[in-house]
Amino acid sequence: MTKSKPQIYDILKREHEEVDELLHQLKEAKGNGAQKLFAEVRLKLVPHSRGEETAVYPRLLAAKNASEKTRVSLEEHRQVDVLLEELAGMSPRDDEWTAKVHVLADMVGHHVDEEEGELFPLARAALSDREAAQITEEYERARDEAAQSMTVEEGEEEVEEEEEEERGAAE
Ligand SMILES: [Fe+2]
Repeated sequence: MTKSKPQIYDILKREHEEVDELLHQLKEAKGNGAQKLFAEVRLKLVPHSRGEETAVYPRLLAAKNASEKTRVSLEEHRQVDVLLEELAGMSPRDDEWTAKVHVLADMVGHHVDEEEGELFPLARAALSDREAAQITEEYERARDEAAQSMTVEEGEEEVEEEEEEERGAAE
């Protein structure tokens, strides 16, 4: 038997572990270190969520036994997005930072437990190996596109900031 490519479940699980580790570090971090770790968490978590929403969840919404759990997962993504956006606009020195980071870590931990414990078994039952392989490809494409658009946006922001600084220096 040839060694098959990692399946969607393995990929998602590995990424869950990476995010969990980063969130663990983020809870301990302060100042600039916290800011950098938060940027890493966001760049890992947002593309992961967009990938799931694009490639995985629509299949499960269509599967009768998994649709309700999937709706819950989608709502959890939405709540996590709100927290991520709030934190993106804050500094680790702000009073609410630590509280929001803790709530974020709790929410993500709960979401991951549900996905792995409940949604993945339903998905394995609902999807053929062939469908799972197709989903893997679609997931990776959607995730990478989302990551790319985030880094492009950040690059643009940095250029704008530099241009502003240059204008300020010239005045
Ligand atoms: Fe998820």
